[in-house]
Amino acid sequence: MSFRLQPTPPARPNRCQLFGPGSNTKLFAKMAASAADVINLDLEDSVSPSDKDIARANVIEAVNTIDWNTKTLSVRINSLDTPYWYRDVVDLLEQAGDRLDQIMIPKVGNAADIYAVDALVTAIETAKGRSKKINFEVIIESAAGLVNVNEIAASSPRMVAMSLGAADFAASMGMQTTGIGGTQENYYMLHGDTRHFSDPWHWAQTAIVAACRTHGILPVDGPFGDFSDDEGYRAQSRRSATLGMVGKWAIHPKQIGLANEVFTPSAEAVAEAREILAAMAQATANGEGATVYKGRLVDIASIKQAEVIVRQSEMIAG
Ligand code: COA
Ligand code: MG
Repeated sequence: MSFRLQPTPPARPNRCQLFGPGSNTKLFAKMAASAADVINLDLEDSVSPSDKDIARANVIEAVNTIDWNTKTLSVRINSLDTPYWYRDVVDLLEQAGDRLDQIMIPKVGNAADIYAVDALVTAIETAKGRSKKINFEVIIESAAGLVNVNEIAASSPRMVAMSLGAADFAASMGMQTTGIGGTQENYYMLHGDTRHFSDPWHWAQTAIVAACRTHGILPVDGPFGDFSDDEGYRAQSRRSATLGMVGKWAIHPKQIGLANEVFTPSAEAVAEAREILAAMAQATANGEGATVYKGRLVDIASIKQAEVIVRQSEMIAG
């Protein structure tokens, strides 16, 4: 480990972030009653330009009046290239109560974007005497966002989470696809006549996970558009979990159970992790730094790997 220890991210479950348009008020109570850990009320791209003002008012009322129970409550504001975002921030910070946990800033391109929002939020919090500081989560969904992902992760103490936004990211990169996440038909290698599909999101996800882990924030996988494809969603989620992401968005209630299933370590995985810890405790007692578990090497690094799974499981349970 470097002299500087890796900071730990917020210890709260973030397996599923459920989105709903701020213009669709009939979804709000259903979202509150869902099994998602995080709720994202949207003012951005699921709301048409003509509905921006009414959606903002709806969302503020929903934050203040609906029982969101223990969920992390977040509102996605409009991006900084629009005329809407400053009003989103001002009205939310002035009118939404302390139940609001965080705002999500989309299409972030560099640390200065966060600085601008932070300055506005800080001024309003001070002016209004808000006792609870609002956290930030961001979406990496542009070429610039990915190039500057490390400075964005380090940009503000308010930062708690970062998601990959596959659709806008694909558009910004000029990728020839209209798919939102998951397998892309034309991204394959040929071996003989057999197509082996590869993962076009892998690099972006890995860069996001590394930036997040360096700065103690939560890496999250974004949307999967085809909500009729359960197995596709599961497969994408499993890859994300394997890479170190802690959860995934749901754009339809069907996806909540799938995310919770994949991002909750299984009983078998936790049992095996505990056995590895026990094997290493025995090895340490014998004065050994390495031993054999089920025919394979485990050593001091295995303790840290096993602890990731056990800690995640205990945090979700508790
Ligand atoms: N949150 C909670 N409940 C939802 C929901 C959501 N995001 N989306 C749909 N539901 C509810 C519906 O109201 C319906 O409830 P009912 O059985 O009580 O009538 C049920 O789930 C089934 O919905 P369905 O008919 O399959 O979907 P739909 O056609 O009503 O809506 C979408 C489909 C995609 C338009 C809708 O799911 C949606 O708006 N998703 C979020 C989009 C979004 O926020 N995008 C921004 C982030 S990428
Ligand atoms: Mg987007």
